[in-house]
Amino acid sequence: MSEKLNILGIESSCDDTAAAVISGHLNGSAEILSSIVVSQTDLHATFGGVVPEIAARAHVEKLDVSVIKALADANLSMDKIDAIAVTAGPGLIGGVVAGVMLAKGLAASTQTPLYGVNHLAGHALTPRLTDNVPFPYLVLLVSGGHCQFLIAKGPLSFRRVGGTIDDAPGEAFDKVARLIGLDQPGGPAIEAAALNGEPKRFKLPRPLLDRSGCDMSFSGLKTAALRARDQVIVQDGGLTKQDQADLAAGFQHAVSDVLAEKSRRALLEYLKLSPAQPTLCVAGGVAANMAIRNVLKEVCREHKANFVAPPLALCTDNAAMIAYAALAQLPYRSSDDMGLSAKPRMPLDTSSPTMLGHGKKGAKA
Ligand code: KG4
Ligand code: ZN
Repeated sequence: MSEKLNILGIESSCDDTAAAVISGHLNGSAEILSSIVVSQTDLHATFGGVVPEIAARAHVEKLDVSVIKALADANLSMDKIDAIAVTAGPGLIGGVVAGVMLAKGLAASTQTPLYGVNHLAGHALTPRLTDNVPFPYLVLLVSGGHCQFLIAKGPLSFRRVGGTIDDAPGEAFDKVARLIGLDQPGGPAIEAAALNGEPKRFKLPRPLLDRSGCDMSFSGLKTAALRARDQVIVQDGGLTKQDQADLAAGFQHAVSDVLAEKSRRALLEYLKLSPAQPTLCVAGGVAANMAIRNVLKEVCREHKANFVAPPLALCTDNAAMIAYAALAQLPYRSSDDMGLSAKPRMPLDTSSPTMLGHGKKGAKA
């Protein structure tokens, strides 16, 4: 392999078909040469969640064209690719299988080394790609499918210090938006409506704050929002724009409070490692929410930690993060052979207990 490596990344674990090419050095510095993301949002819109069978078929349709486009945008042919990185889990199994099969076929036919990558490692290592954040750092992964705190100690070394025991916050944003008559995706719709709302009008719970540790729960909060909505409907016969705004603001405020307090606790746990440059990074679609970002920034300020949020296109699912994770891990692991299997569950930290939930966007690891 030449000193500078070109890595093709492939991602298909949820509802985005993605392919990317990065070029980088084994010391971890890298640039993104191309990044293609084909969203399936429209295909699933009427079903109120991702339909695994539809997702898998759409990945099969779009994977090869995405890879061809990623190579063309990078202006490289396969013979210039030094390694193929593919998400091997966790995720919706049909999609993960589709990506792994394509990667294996490409690797075998072009004699290129193959690296199966944990999707969560892709998210967790992104702050090194975008901001060169030194190990160890704390990552909060918050999206429609994930919610967990990870201490990243090295490219293959992660400690999970807490996570959701049921829904992911993005999933709860989407469901509550639907319940109160706002558009999908629910996160941006709730954030916009909340700007005109009174967050204290409805008394919504802050689940699990009374319990020690960093585990979280968002399913009860969603049910509480449903009850509050129903009370208004029974009383007034329907929801006004102001009711929607107040419900949105109350819900967003409750999620922010939970994430802030659990981040505070995760940060204290992480600070026990005496990191030279304490840093909390966020990743995932929910990290786009300004109210949530602001409370996390405040928690970092209180504890004199840096706050890093990669650009949104790299916070959400993409294949550049998968290629980058392979580059970062390459010096410490061997490549995979044709026995590489796709896994619906694939915890990053195998020493922590498995999360049992199964969200709208696949298995939680
Ligand atoms: O990371 P992502 O694109 O996909 C996966 O979940 O894999 O995250 C999408 C989720 C959706 O549930 C969406 O409602 C949520 O992120 N989201 C937001 C905002 N923008 C997107 N949630 C809260 N506030 C936002 N501004
Ligand atoms: Zn993801």
